[in-house]
Amino acid sequence: MENTIYKNRRDGLSELMENNSVLLIPGADLQYRNADSSYPFRQDSSFYYFSGFCESSSLIAIVKNENKINSIIFVPPKDKLREIWDGYRAGPIGAVKDYLFDKAFDNNQIDSMLPDILSGSKQVMYPIGKKAGFDQKVIDWTTEASSKDRHSKSINIFDASSMIGNLRLIKDNHEIELIRKACDISADAHIHAMKNIKGGDNEQLIESLYIHEFSKKGARYPAYNPIVASGENACVLHYVENNKDLNNSDLILVDAGCEFEMYAADITRTFPISGKFSEEQLKIYEVVLEAMNAAIDEVKEGNSVMRPQEASEKVITKGLIKLGLLKGDLDELHASGAYKDFYMHKIGHWLGLDVHDAGDYVEGDDFMKFKPGMITTIEPGIYISSSMDVDDKWKGIGVRIEDDILVTKDGNENLTKKVPSDPKEIESLMS
Ligand code: GLY
Ligand code: MN
Ligand code: MN
Repeated sequence: MENTIYKNRRDGLSELMENNSVLLIPGADLQYRNADSSYPFRQDSSFYYFSGFCESSSLIAIVKNENKINSIIFVPPKDKLREIWDGYRAGPIGAVKDYLFDKAFDNNQIDSMLPDILSGSKQVMYPIGKKAGFDQKVIDWTTEASSKDRHSKSINIFDASSMIGNLRLIKDNHEIELIRKACDISADAHIHAMKNIKGGDNEQLIESLYIHEFSKKGARYPAYNPIVASGENACVLHYVENNKDLNNSDLILVDAGCEFEMYAADITRTFPISGKFSEEQLKIYEVVLEAMNAAIDEVKEGNSVMRPQEASEKVITKGLIKLGLLKGDLDELHASGAYKDFYMHKIGHWLGLDVHDAGDYVEGDDFMKFKPGMITTIEPGIYISSSMDVDDKWKGIGVRIEDDILVTKDGNENLTKKVPSDPKEIESLMS
């Protein structure tokens, strides 16, 4: 049964946890949008990674004693009335039977049982600062546990974020297949939008095309709020109003990816609403595309995660000099960070259960090195808002291109290459 994946992940913690320690991973609570209307429930990604369990207000406690892992989960209790209104609950019996935990209890027993579970432990680990109110809970349970056994050593509290994040950083085959599917669905939606867009449409309509394409293939939700930014809106990095009419002579930047079975895709394409790039749009686009290709070439086993960053900065600086948008010496302009007026964000981030996925970018005193199984986005951009001091012909052009790159044993695989980024291919797809 598929839930053995999650049990194996919990068992794998026995090598990483100290003897006599407890790891706590809180699940997500239901969030409200207004009054009593809730957002659709989304489980916390780390909680899901170790359980596969999707009911709210649950808690995992992994206890390591005598080098053996004992896994406990607290879940919403069975409740006939609530199940009539809200749907099936596994309850503690279902959590043991179907999710393969060693023990399970009702979540209304958390406060009374946690001090006993922690009592006598050397340390308690959990993701510090990640869930509102949970830090205080851990302090309270730890204080009570210590007061139950005054002669034992005090219980140390450690942050488990890096340990959990760095496990999540290397994707197993099951995860890679789900991300591949999320990428495929999202790529198809971009292709569909390129083929169907026309001047006079509203950004909101384009957003709905993506959501519809995602849904048709089993991905009910986007992995993040889509950015559908026409013309100068593309220069607002987190533009999510998505409500302007499309001007035929503008570009549109769409940053949209779906969530498929909890895993994210993250794709950006910038394309001409008319189907044809103008001369200036194309010149900027080609610089971003060259930066994209140079950065992707640096994503390989053993390279520092800073290599794609540096490659993209250099290509963009060189391109901006060639177009007359920066003046001076390439190395000096790169060293001074002059490109940041046009390219002000980083080249990418880890991708997985979260769109900005868990996992460190440094290891010891150095930057992290790429290893097979990691997935990073590569997403360079150039943004020229009309308030910038440049020739008018460049104003209002914003371009970003973003792909999702899997590190493999012999290089990398671009999981989102199906949707064209070459300008000639985009024009031919749109014609
Ligand atoms: N879609 C969010 C990002 O590109 O980081
Ligand atoms: Mn991204
Ligand atoms: Mn994105």
